[in-house]
Amino acid sequence: MRPRSLQLRAPRSEYEWDRLHAIRRTCIFDVYHPPDGPWPCEYDPAHPDDRDPANRPLLLVVDGELAGTLRVDLKPDGRAVVRLVALDPKFRSGGLGASMLEMAEAQARASGARALCVNAQPEVVGFYARQGFAPGRWEGCTACPRGIPMTKVLAGELSAVPGPRRVAPGLGFRKAA
Ligand SMILES: CC(C)(COP(=O)(O)OP(=O)(O)OC[C@H]1O[C@@H](n2cnc3c(N)ncnc32)[C@H](O)[C@@H]1OP(=O)(O)O)[C@@H](O)C(=O)NCCC(=O)NCCS
Repeated sequence: MRPRSLQLRAPRSEYEWDRLHAIRRTCIFDVYHPPDGPWPCEYDPAHPDDRDPANRPLLLVVDGELAGTLRVDLKPDGRAVVRLVALDPKFRSGGLGASMLEMAEAQARASGARALCVNAQPEVVGFYARQGFAPGRWEGCTACPRGIPMTKVLAGELSAVPGPRRVAPGLGFRKAA
């Protein structure tokens, strides 16, 4: 059924932050970075990147329910990086992921972004490709060999940056011994 209302907005209470962290933890970190897997990474709900004024942690609210989350990080060079994209399983496969990404794109455009970047898990490259992203490295893209950097140009030309891959502070990946 089509939702009557759809919002992508900042969390407004402790409860909403807890829900955002829970979705990230269970849908991303537990799945792609478990402690006994090849790319362990412990989720940090107090990560300073969530408090950076250039970064917007957002919740998808579907008919009043907290259904999903992503973060839009605005970069001074005109890129917006979409990170930590996840929907609660009961909201998947009905077009809400695409809607959430479209709303993030609209917010990024409104803030002047000329390109969207993402580090896609291999399992969801097709999802981003449906939304117009193409594989290609970008400045600051993931250092995790599992991740697939992708870009969607929104306006004009933004060349791919072949610089060294780096790990965001506190989001380092280490190989299991
Ligand atoms: C990725 C995710 C947000 C997609 O949300 P969703 O609501 O299931 O996706 P949608 O129903 O909006 O799908 C939009 C389109 O992408 C396609 N798609 C969705 N997931 C896909 C996948 N894993 N592989 C290929 N195509 C996919 C859909 O078929 C649909 O195509 P259509 O436009 O032809 O119908 C959701 O599956 C999720 O939260 N996954 C777990 C967390 C995760 O992997 N996050 C990404 C980290 S990079």
